[in-house]
Amino acid sequence: MNLTLKIWRQKGSHDKGGIVEYKVSDISEHMSFLEMMDVLNEGLIAKGEEPVAFDHDCREGICGTCSLQINGEPHGPDKAITACQLHMRSFKDGDTIYIEPWRAKAFPVIKDLIVDRSAFDRIQQAGGYISVNTSGNTQDANAIPIPKLDADLSMDAATCIGCGACVAACKNSSAMLFVGAKVSQFALLPQGRVEAKDRVLNMVKQMDLEGFGNCTNTGACEVECPKSISLTNIARMNREYLKASI
Ligand code: SF4
Ligand code: FES
Repeated sequence: MNLTLKIWRQKGSHDKGGIVEYKVSDISEHMSFLEMMDVLNEGLIAKGEEPVAFDHDCREGICGTCSLQINGEPHGPDKAITACQLHMRSFKDGDTIYIEPWRAKAFPVIKDLIVDRSAFDRIQQAGGYISVNTSGNTQDANAIPIPKLDADLSMDAATCIGCGACVAACKNSSAMLFVGAKVSQFALLPQGRVEAKDRVLNMVKQMDLEGFGNCTNTGACEVECPKSISLTNIARMNREYLKASI
């Protein structure tokens, strides 16, 4: 395939940035999207030009770093996968593809397609953990019976990889699907109930401090989430927040 790429280039966080057009040729349909980006960058380096900066690590849908807005959709046109799992067979010869970074005030652009998602880390640090008492009286977790449905729902919430696509998809740049998943994975388990009140209050407070918007039930986050995290996690977080507040 021969393709035209329109890519957001931005030297640094204070640079204005803009779209730059590139041509790539002989792209195999079996290549992953990131491999196609590698081909582009190898060509740019060979010509002595600056390669396009983009985030990636695992390239198998686990780490959540490959934050690319492709033709206006977080992680591209296919559903329930990350950009690194997207393959070029989803495009056709002659296509023009727009590639941009996540757009959200709380995710400032560092360079080109890389954004700073440390706001998510700070939300996690505010309460997305369980403090385990290892004084010698700790109960074996396997000795605590947990209903199968609760265990399954908790596991579903725990599959969130913190990629930020939910924020990028939302017209309000809301992080509530992410925070809802992180609150829910513990709220559903007895081990998570001990700190449940402080957890939800502190995580929501940090979410607001970071400048994320609020949820208006549009559901774009759920549609674009590569892990199909359900909106019911936002509803559960809201219930947890209400209970903790009163
Ligand atoms: S909820 Fe989905 S879209 Fe949002 S950070 Fe988690 S995995 Fe990514
Ligand atoms: S590179 Fe790790 S999820 Fe895409």
